[in-house]
Amino acid sequence: MSRFLSYVAAAVLAGTVSFAGEKEVAYGKYLLEEVAKCQECHTPKTATGELDKGKWLKGATLDFQPVTPIERWHKTSPDITPTGRLWQRWGEKAVLEYLQTGLTPKGKPADPPMPAYKLKKVDAEAMLEYLKSLK
Ligand code: HEC
Repeated sequence: MSRFLSYVAAAVLAGTVSFAGEKEVAYGKYLLEEVAKCQECHTPKTATGELDKGKWLKGATLDFQPVTPIERWHKTSPDITPTGRLWQRWGEKAVLEYLQTGLTPKGKPADPPMPAYKLKKVDAEAMLEYLKSLK
């Protein structure tokens, strides 16, 4: 490996340089879909019960509820794509902040059953890039 490449590798490991572009989007997609599973609550289902690919992360009515009532439980989840109302209201910076702190622009966590994710900056950025790649 050249000295330059080992410098880049070390910088990436140290988190001082982030990998951008397609790789970052793919990593964000992996985190969102395979690890956090955001689509399970934020994507509506078709009549046959599959996630509707045409409405990916566009917000949904949940198909489950608690056996015993939970205070402030939400039956619906918002559209979390960049063209949705939430993104327009919050702006990109607040979305990135939210993914790292679990706190909304009002400084509060979201209501149940939305989990409070506290992602590392690189992971939150990758997830943000993936969301930005959606329409
Ligand atoms: C278990 C179901 C569930 C999962 C999994 C889930 N969400 Fe949510 N999410 C919700 C519900 C329900 C709400 C509405 C709660 C509210 O408005 O306070 C919500 C709200 C949100 C909000 C708006 C918060 C607010 O206070 O307005 C954002 C942003 C969000 N989710 C992003 C995500 C992302 C990104 C993921 C994956 C990393 C994810 N959600 C995973 C159910 C879920």
